[in-house]
Amino acid sequence: MITIHFIANNDHSTGGKTTIHAEIGQSLMQAATHANVAGIEADCGGTLSCATCHVRVHEPFAAALPAPSADEAAMLEFAAVPRSPNSRLSCQIQLTDALDGMTVDLPPTQH
Ligand code: FES
Repeated sequence: MITIHFIANNDHSTGGKTTIHAEIGQSLMQAATHANVAGIEADCGGTLSCATCHVRVHEPFAAALPAPSADEAAMLEFAAVPRSPNSRLSCQIQLTDALDGMTVDLPPTQH
């Protein structure tokens, strides 16, 4: 199990922090939805066709992740909130021991 922190952002002010314990081997989106983290909609169920699982990954973890695929990068253009350099689709992040302690921001909206 690893620990992941989600920070909710509403109207550009930092909101609450939710901490979950997740199994490695699943995606960040799967871990978040299993733990009922508000703000991860995941409308497509992880098939890389909705961009409603958008998160912004804090350093040093953002730099440690594999680069987004071309398909992930293209789908990020459809995110409800404009992408940032550290934006990722959480369904494409596979959890590993190296991500223990990762913090991600949730956008104000996914739609
Ligand atoms: S869950 Fe739809 S793109 Fe990630």
